Amino acid sequence: MAKLYLICGKGGVGKTTSASAIALALANRGEKTLLLSTDFTPAIGDVLEIDIGPEFTKVGDYLTAMEMDHKTITERWISKFGPDFHQILSRLIDIEKLDRESENSLLEYISSAPSLREETMLDFIVELSENENYDKIIWDSAPAGETLNLLNMPSMLKKHLKSGTKVYDSLDKLTRFRSGRKSISKIIDEWTELSDYISRYIRDNAAFIIVTNPERVVYNRTKDIYTTLLDYRMNVHGCIINKIFRNISDKTFKEQQKKALNDIYKLFNKLLVAELEHSIHNVKTRQNLENTGLKLIKELQIKTF
Ligand SMILES: Nc1ncnc2c1ncn2[C@@H]1O[C@H](COP(=O)(O)OP(=O)(O)OP(=O)(O)O)[C@@H](O)[C@H]1O
Ligand SMILES: [Mg+2]
Repeated sequence: MAKLYLICGKGGVGKTTSASAIALALANRGEKTLLLSTDFTPAIGDVLEIDIGPEFTKVGDYLTAMEMDHKTITERWISKFGPDFHQILSRLIDIEKLDRESENSLLEYISSAPSLREETMLDFIVELSENENYDKIIWDSAPAGETLNLLNMPSMLKKHLKSGTKVYDSLDKLTRFRSGRKSISKIIDEWTELSDYISRYIRDNAAFIIVTNPERVVYNRTKDIYTTLLDYRMNVHGCIINKIFRNISDKTFKEQQKKALNDIYKLFNKLLVAELEHSIHNVKTRQNLENTGLKLIKELQIKTF
């Protein structure tokens, strides 16, 4: 089972840069690593300076990268939940009369529901982490709000599904004369179980790394993210304070940065914290990134064998 690290934080703080650096460093240590992006405007390819996209792309001997896109999620949704939906729909309307193309577009339409898309995405990540191909998965997530919504999805979906229980039961009764079909209630129960499993899996196996910058507005958002993660009972592993300016002469700027740094350390007093200077030499070229990553995995005590 792969250890899953989820890199999160406000927009633009350096999530993709940090995730890429950590992944390169882990691969350098011989860990089979998958660098995964669930940001639909992904940038891993830009950082590593190669085309990636939704295919599993080999970046080095031990590093594979993948940028998830809408199409991949929809396809997975159709193969995973499509048959169940077909069962449900066929109880409601005689969709066997529909030709394949119309049926697919109907399923595609239903699969565009946001919670199901997110559920499928999480399910995919859980599956990737459960299979034996990788030692570590570094998950570069979309900016904070979207990731937090993602975590809320399994319970929202469950609530939504459960609220319709009475309707499903009645539909099952009305349509019971059509034999050989799974009952709608049973399908809903299976989905609910899957939702529970995904929530539990992320809680038990994902370690969150929050990226932040020493700046007041970013700090405020970081505090919200941290609080929300704790509310969800997620495992927050550590924090990266990125874009620290060391050689600034402006007194006001220096004081503001110092205050923000103090606030961050106070907020994360029990966590591992790594610092990263604002410097082109930390982030440009793959070799620089790899060195940055080696520093990060050391300071964040990300274990390698
Ligand atoms: N330590 C650093 N020094 C200098 N530039 C940096 C540093 N870290 C990140 N950057 C630059 O900041 C910009 C944003 O970084 P990055 O894309 O990693 O952030 P992000 O959090 O993933 O953004 P988004 O929320 O848009 O996905 C990039 O241009 C990157 O090169
Ligand atoms: Mg990014």
